[in-house]
Order: sequence, then C-alpha cells, then structure tokens
Amino acid sequence: MRLRPIIPGWLLRWFCLVTAVANITGNVFLLLFYRPLFGWLDIPLPRDLHLFTLECVLSFTMGVVALITYVRPDRLVLIVGIVGKSLYAGITYYFWAIHALSSWFMIFVVWDVVFVGIFFLYWIQLAAPRLFELSHSVFAGLDTRHDGRRALVLALSLTGNTRQAAARLTRGLERSGYEVDVEEVVPEERVFHQPFTFGRFLGTVIRAMFRRGAKFRPIKADRRRDWDLVVVTAPTWMLGLAAPMESLLADDDHRDLFKGRDVAAVVVCRGAWQRSQAMMVYRLERAGANVVTARGYSHQGWEPARLMLLWWRLITKRTRLFGVDYGLSAETLNEVEQLGVDLAHRVRNRPHWTLLPEARHA
Ligand SMILES: Cc1cc2nc3c(=O)[nH]c(=O)nc-3n(C[C@H](O)[C@H](O)[C@H](O)COP(=O)(O)O)c2cc1C
Repeated sequence: MRLRPIIPGWLLRWFCLVTAVANITGNVFLLLFYRPLFGWLDIPLPRDLHLFTLECVLSFTMGVVALITYVRPDRLVLIVGIVGKSLYAGITYYFWAIHALSSWFMIFVVWDVVFVGIFFLYWIQLAAPRLFELSHSVFAGLDTRHDGRRALVLALSLTGNTRQAAARLTRGLERSGYEVDVEEVVPEERVFHQPFTFGRFLGTVIRAMFRRGAKFRPIKADRRRDWDLVVVTAPTWMLGLAAPMESLLADDDHRDLFKGRDVAAVVVCRGAWQRSQAMMVYRLERAGANVVTARGYSHQGWEPARLMLLWWRLITKRTRLFGVDYGLSAETLNEVEQLGVDLAHRVRNRPHWTLLPEARHA
C-alpha cells in the first residue's frame, strides 16, 4: 500500500494555533473564574492555590510555545512543547490516579496527549517540509542539458522486501528506456547479517532504538557514470531510517552520489514510514540532491497481525501468520513498478541547484 502523510504540514501548523489559543485563553479564564466554574461543575476548590496557579501558568506557557511554533515553525521549540505537554499530561494523570483531582481534569490529559502526537508529526514534517507534496507527485527533475537515461538504484534490505521493491522499480525504469545500475548497501557489522539469529535480531533492534550509526561497505558503482537519477530504497527500523542507509546518506565520501542529481526516496515498512521518509529526504537535501519524490510502502495485512508477523518472520523466518503474508502485496509491487515508469517520464526543466545558496547544501 502506498502511503501519504496522515496530516499535511500546513494543517499541523493550524493545530498549533488551536492549542495556543486554547491554552492561553483557557488558563487566563480558569484563573479568573475558577470559583464559579468549579462550583458549577461540582469540582472541589483547589487545596493549594499556589500550586493551582503554577499549573495554570505552566499550561499557559505551553500555549505560548505553540504560538511561537505557529508564527515561526521551529523543530527545537516543538521539542520543548512535546516535553512540556508530556510532563503536564503525566503529572495531571498522576494526581487524578491518586484521587487528588476531579475526572474533569482528564480532558486536559487527553488534550495534551493528542497535541504531543500532533507536535511530533509536525516535528517530522519540519525535517522535510515538502514531504506531503513529495509523497503524491513527482517533482520536476534538473535540466541536465543532455537526454540522460541512466539511473542508479541503491537498496538496503535485510529480509528481502526492499530488494524486491528496488527490483520492480528498476523494471519500471527499464521498461521506459532507462539503463539501470543496481547496488545493494551492505552493512559491515555481523549483527546485521543473515541468517538473523535471535541475538542479532535483538542487537539490531537495540541499536536501532538508540539510533546508532552503522558501518557499510563503500558503494562500488562507477561514480563517473552520468546517472541523471538515483533511487534510494531502505526499510524503517524502530520508527526511523535503517541505520546503514542513514549513515551512508550522511557520509561525505558518498555525497557525490546525490549532489546535483535527481533523487527518489523510497521507504519500505511494516506500517511506520513517515519519520524514515522525512529523515531520508532531509539527509538527501543536505547532501545537495534534488529530491523529486518520496514514497512509503507498507506491508499487506491488518494490525496487529502485521506487527506480530514481523517479529515472527524475524525470529522464525516463517512468512505467514493468521492468514497474512509477510511483506508487500502484489498490488503494492505493481505501484512501485509504476513509480519507476513515472520517474522515467518526469519533467526535466528545473534550473540547476547552483542558482540556490550553496551554503544550504554544503
Ligand atoms: C530491527 C527492525 C526494526 C523495525 N522497526 C519497524 C518499525 O518501527 N516500524 C515499521 O513499520 N517497520 C519496522 N520494521 C519492519 C521493516 O521496516 C519491514 O519489515 C521491511 O519490509 C523490511 O525490509 P527488508 O525486507 O528489505 O529488510 C523493522 C524491521 C527491523 C528488522
């Protein structure tokens, strides 16, 4: 299944304004009118007025953080918002759980938890603001002056899904007249090597959790080849881009693979693709690539069977559970092949990157 961002960036920004207005005005209102309001709702008056005022001020501050984010979207400010709202939700929940607060306050907990999710999604979007558009269209390629039809497809794959997707995308490109070099990104450390024992599986998961970089075998493809398109394909590991690909995209010695070229970013996953895709686009743009599209493809089946099947496949190597097969469906693979065709036919009239400030891509 091909995936699109759940909520576009502009809408997430408006949500920030919603919580800004609600937190700022709501807390002023609460401080001014808590007596009649609490009486009306039959809530006992706060025992410690100083503590109650402090809570309102903190919540008001979160509103200010949201307002700053709306006015000038910034990832660091969003982290402050995520931490602040999580703490606020956690503490309010705690006091409710020990019966020190009325159940009405659970509204604030739900509100804050929802906005932690919204802030997180916005934080992902800000890593690559064009993510929404990139995931449902193919942007203009660079004007290469010669009619190049040569592509490099890079694939990182532990259990074969991304390899399969890369092969189908290659077929789509070749069907449209492209000559394609395909190269696997091979992780060097044993922990990533097949067959995946339970120990290696655990090692990969833990490393992915802590987002540790990974060594990979240097790409052998002949750099003198004039690829007008590079396709990067990789899976999601622990809600982020698989480590060896993340390291490769950040590696100075491999920057020339992407710099000044059209690049397509493709993520394969069980279901969580948005962050990996944002990471991929962000890294590629930093490397000076003209990212023409970014796609996410998820496994067939339904949750939680898909999730259980993933662990089942990694640990036992079996590929079927509860009637669900592991990996991408035939339909999804057809979509991937079609992406190859679409990429081959992309418009190529974008002025070269050198027109843009060089520092952005240094
Ligand atoms: C260590 C590890 C962690 C994973 N974590 C996630 C995850 O957080 N979210 C998700 O949707 N898929 C996750 N997956 C599933 C892979 O993205 C998915 O199985 C993908 O198809 C694997 O591609 P491959 O067969 O090319 O290796 C994880 C897989 C591995 C090996």
